[in-house]
Amino acid sequence: MEVFVKSGSPEKQRTACVVVGVFEPRRLAPAAREIDRATDGYLTKLLRRGDMEGRQGQFLMLHNLPNILPDRVLLVGLGKERDLDDKRYRESVESLVRHLDGTGSMEAVVYFPELHVKGREIEWKVRAATEAGSLAMYRFEEYKSKTDKPRRPLRRLTFCVPRRSDLREGQTAVDQGLAYANGVAYARDLANQPPNVATPIHMADKAKELADEWGLSLTVLDEQQMEAEGMGAFLAVGQGSVNPPRLMAMEHRGGAADEAPYVIVGKGITFDAGGISLKPAAAMDEMKYDMCGAAGTFGIMRAIAELKLPINVVGVAAAAENLPDGRAYRPGDILTAKAGKTIEIINTDAEGRLVLADALTWVQENYQPRVILDMATLTGACLVALGKKAAGLMGNTDRLVRELTDAGDETGERGWQLPLWDEYQDQLKSDFADMKNVGGREAGTITAGCFLSRFVEDVEWAHIDIAGVAWQNSSTKGATGHPVRMVSQYLLDRSQS
Ligand code: BES
Ligand code: MN
Ligand code: ZN
Repeated sequence: MEVFVKSGSPEKQRTACVVVGVFEPRRLAPAAREIDRATDGYLTKLLRRGDMEGRQGQFLMLHNLPNILPDRVLLVGLGKERDLDDKRYRESVESLVRHLDGTGSMEAVVYFPELHVKGREIEWKVRAATEAGSLAMYRFEEYKSKTDKPRRPLRRLTFCVPRRSDLREGQTAVDQGLAYANGVAYARDLANQPPNVATPIHMADKAKELADEWGLSLTVLDEQQMEAEGMGAFLAVGQGSVNPPRLMAMEHRGGAADEAPYVIVGKGITFDAGGISLKPAAAMDEMKYDMCGAAGTFGIMRAIAELKLPINVVGVAAAAENLPDGRAYRPGDILTAKAGKTIEIINTDAEGRLVLADALTWVQENYQPRVILDMATLTGACLVALGKKAAGLMGNTDRLVRELTDAGDETGERGWQLPLWDEYQDQLKSDFADMKNVGGREAGTITAGCFLSRFVEDVEWAHIDIAGVAWQNSSTKGATGHPVRMVSQYLLDRSQS
């Protein structure tokens, strides 16, 4: 989708379709009032006759209105004005775009940034509309032999800002929104791939592609190099699969050469059958999404490269496949992680923390990070705790967790803090090794965070558990691209401070 920003009166737009809002009950938004004035009260009459209440989700397409330049006017119901919040605003843009695609209008001029959204300025409104508008058209249809695409699809959206002086901010917002949306779509495309295609090697191939396209430098470790690095935990997870593991690091060098990088690390289990501690069959297909953290890394790198953020960022993906097999690791095994610590395996299905542990040690040895963020579909317990509404956030400084929470609120990819108190560490005590890989039924998301914290030395670090938010299995199925926007926004904020 192409997105533009402009300013000007709705009745003077030479466009296939001008889009204006109507609030409930029957109240015209400012741009709709202008159309009404130019057409001698055409819209007022319509409303009086009861054609449109203004409920959210209502649409009314009007053709050939007198005295105005646009071919069509689309009235969009927005619900009660005082209820228009972030979520409704985004949803309105999304449903608008889905509605428009198929009306024959290949482009439209949309008067939504003028709307009053609680606590939001123009820049937010244009960015959110850009993201929502371009992602509303997202589909993953690579494996469908037939698709029903409209004959004249929607190709271009122009968002109108109230004043000419808003144009500069508006353009910045469009650029950011498109970068985020492209990053999200990239992450979704990768995460939606079936597990027979998206193997660790496939991910390394994609890393090469992305690095070449966006001028990132790339390091890929194969299993021999990981062996040489002493990554006993990471390697154990992958050893039950014929698809060998890969660790990859993409570097965006936007800052000074001597500036410490932000390092993001994504869990990339390309399929998680649970290993010898086999998962039940129900919904096991969804475990192809167990690489959504790694897919997020890719999306974030794409977004920040497109935005040319003036900071250094390293994006790491830790990819392996967790399958049962004669060579697979077992419950009872004791592994030695790269950091030298020993881990007693209680359950081979708690594999994400094992690959992340070694990846965390590796990035600290190689990059002297300023901040480390890891993202992982780590625990089913996170879905139980927060549902599908928020990622679980944990970290070793409240400041970093707060910055991520704020970035989540800003972008709608929300996160919520869980405590990483020392008291929880006790649950990881092992009789035979330095620690166990599971901490029992209680506080499963937190003890997973505790496990990771043991592999983080003296550096600011946060862990984002995206088990609940990384994919959807209701209405529109598939990967969501969380937390690409949250983390990209965090990095953008940091680059400006
Ligand atoms: N990838 C899963 C976590 C998961 C499960 C994410 C369901 C999303 C939906 C992870 O590897 C896992 O299996 N975790 C176990 C840990 C347990 C054995 C301590 C879990 O959550 O059951
Ligand atoms: Mn698992
Ligand atoms: Zn997993």
